[in-house]
Amino acid sequence: MLGKKMIGKKLGQGAFAMSRKVKELKKTIDNSKIINSTIGTFFDDNENLLIFDTIDKLYRELPAADIFGYAAGVSGSAEYKDAVKKDILSDHIDLFNKKNTYIDVTATAGGTGAIHNTFKGYAEEGDIVLLPNFMWEAYISLTQADNLNYETYNLFSNNSFDLKDFSKKLLNLIKKQKKVIIVINDPCQNPTGYSLSFEEWEAVIEIVKEAASYGEIVLLNDIAYIDYDFRGRELSRKHFSLFAGLPENILVVLAYSMSKSFTCYGLRTGAQIAISTSKEIMDEFSYSSEFLCRTSWSNISKGGMAILNEIFNNNKFLEEINTNRIEWINLLKERANTFIENAKTENLEYCPFRGGFFITIPLIDRKDEIVDYLIKENIFVLPLKNGIRIALCSVPCEKLKKLPKEIKKAIEFFSK
Ligand SMILES: Cc1ncc(COP(=O)(O)O)c(C=O)c1O
Repeated sequence: MLGKKMIGKKLGQGAFAMSRKVKELKKTIDNSKIINSTIGTFFDDNENLLIFDTIDKLYRELPAADIFGYAAGVSGSAEYKDAVKKDILSDHIDLFNKKNTYIDVTATAGGTGAIHNTFKGYAEEGDIVLLPNFMWEAYISLTQADNLNYETYNLFSNNSFDLKDFSKKLLNLIKKQKKVIIVINDPCQNPTGYSLSFEEWEAVIEIVKEAASYGEIVLLNDIAYIDYDFRGRELSRKHFSLFAGLPENILVVLAYSMSKSFTCYGLRTGAQIAISTSKEIMDEFSYSSEFLCRTSWSNISKGGMAILNEIFNNNKFLEEINTNRIEWINLLKERANTFIENAKTENLEYCPFRGGFFITIPLIDRKDEIVDYLIKENIFVLPLKNGIRIALCSVPCEKLKKLPKEIKKAIEFFSK
């Protein structure tokens, strides 16, 4: 019955499936005895979902028509598009103007919608997309959904971004394929918590420019965790200056999301922010992304967009949220320090970490058995293709303190 193109396309045992298991377990065992490190949303130390008070209030006070009505325009309201630009690119607008660089915004169903639109809009059937080797594995499903393939670049060499491998993989691919979509999830990469330094971004852009002499490049910078960068707001956005004045055959698309930044996970509000020096490419982007929205989910939540308009039209709201977020970042720092300190004591290896929601333990050998062993100990960690992900965002310090020892014990059990 199923269409041939859908046969075998299934989601794996990802975070949502693990969470269901934990829910079942909680019926029989006290939560204090369970470590649930599978959830990618921000929880307080009592393991309740954190929502900005300002956002909660703003949403509840919206006129009913702003929540329940259709949004104006399939690609998002003009006010929302302006608010997204202010949020992400306000430091660089003058530079973009000076370097004749255009910006366009299309509202999408979360950051996921932005990635979906970009793959669907720019890849040819069967193309290979370049993904990082440690990644949010939904990228793979998103390529499969569109009958695309993927290759990976190595994320790390020693403790830095592996520029050499990135360059090698990109140049090989562009010479063969003539057009390549590259995904860089930065800052605060999911699942490792790595953030490229500004200098690493400069080097990446030089490599992308070199590759562009062989074909067209779409650089998809997924910024879902940008507002939890431990370096602060300004530095988290500094590398966007490098997207001004690029050659016309390089299109940059930022995958923007209100899910984490504004705790609007369920409102499904995001955007593609397209950046290019070509008017023609921007015109193509505008009509094609609008078409893709219409044929995927039509328009997105009017209420979600209205929240962002309110925030960027009233400094008071933005300041409240930013102040609140700094407290939450401090909580993440405390959790990260707790985990790292204990990992060091246990000699447990972890990927280079700079900030954000997650840390990853690189692990390939007998990983599934190790994850199952931990489940028997009531510890739930998210298995990845090449590691296990620890969710700093949802596990309190008390539990993070114990986690490295338990993981080390499980690894050692299977290495005997
Ligand atoms: C790396 C990354 N990108 C994008 C998203 C998309 O989030 P959403 O569709 O909720 O905006 C997520 C969500 O977990 C993510 O981890």
